[in-house]
Amino acid sequence: MEQWYRTHVDQIEQYLSACFTEDRPWQALYTAMRYSLLGGGKRIRPVLTMEFSRIVGGNPEKALPFAAAIEMIHTYSLTHDDLPSMDNDDLRRGRPTCHIRFDEATAILAGDALQAAAFREVLSADLPEDVRCRAGLILARAAGEDGMVAGQVLDLAGETKPLTAEELEQVHKHKTAALIQAAATLGVIAGGGTEAQIGAASRFAKALGIAFQIRDDILDFEGDVAQLGKPIGSDVESGKTTFVTLYGLDRAKEMLQEQTEAAKAALIGAFDDIDGLLWLSDWLLERKY
Ligand code: IPE
Ligand code: IPE
Ligand code: MG
Ligand code: MG
Ligand code: MG
Repeated sequence: MEQWYRTHVDQIEQYLSACFTEDRPWQALYTAMRYSLLGGGKRIRPVLTMEFSRIVGGNPEKALPFAAAIEMIHTYSLTHDDLPSMDNDDLRRGRPTCHIRFDEATAILAGDALQAAAFREVLSADLPEDVRCRAGLILARAAGEDGMVAGQVLDLAGETKPLTAEELEQVHKHKTAALIQAAATLGVIAGGGTEAQIGAASRFAKALGIAFQIRDDILDFEGDVAQLGKPIGSDVESGKTTFVTLYGLDRAKEMLQEQTEAAKAALIGAFDDIDGLLWLSDWLLERKY
């Protein structure tokens, strides 16, 4: 991992570590929220927020609440995704999933509270009110009924019937690319970038998000559990249509490459100082976890 990435991760983790530390009579909830939030993870989404904020000339420290919010929504989505009624997985980030470590009700409620906390973070950030409102709206759209949750619904529908290529693209666009797009655009907004830069960040992140989920599908097929920190074969076991089941491994890898190239192309001309993001795009292409 490159130093610039590590620097963002350190800042993000320091910020997240300070969340939900108060003593409360409902301590079990805080414990489960911290368990899910602080259990590792690549922190791709908040790193995108921080890096986009930096490359448009903002102070990344000001973007931290937006970055934390994205990671809270992402963590909530994973906590619920692992539940028995959804993917029914028992390993996440190398540790027992939240419902296995605690219980199902606690995992559901920890996810619920993380989602609300994400919006509290965005709306109370030390940024102008119009910036906070715009960010809140973008996050709500990306996370909600026409965003990530819609993708999860389509994904689960794919367990009972085979999906077409178009349907599968809809799944990946919504369940994964939507939040990655929000992560990038929130960074540009926090850093005071232009409308053209918001558009370019969104195009970059949409292609990167689809690539990211294709790689996730590939890792479910040929990953190593110890390295990946989550189960493999979970998609096949539940009968899901994925890029690997629909296109085969070789074509899925080609499509991953194509989406990565499309992502990188969207950056050219829109931003200076894109070396970090270009490196990140290539790193995700090859990632093993
Ligand atoms: C996993 O996301 C779920 C997908 C949308 C593919 P990540 O691969 O970013 O998971 P962590 O945060 O690094 O654990
Ligand atoms: C999850 O997709 C996407 C979410 C919105 C949580 P997956 O179900 O493929 O993610 P993993 O493989 O469990 O991390
Ligand atoms: Mg899932
Ligand atoms: Mg899953
Ligand atoms: Mg997966």
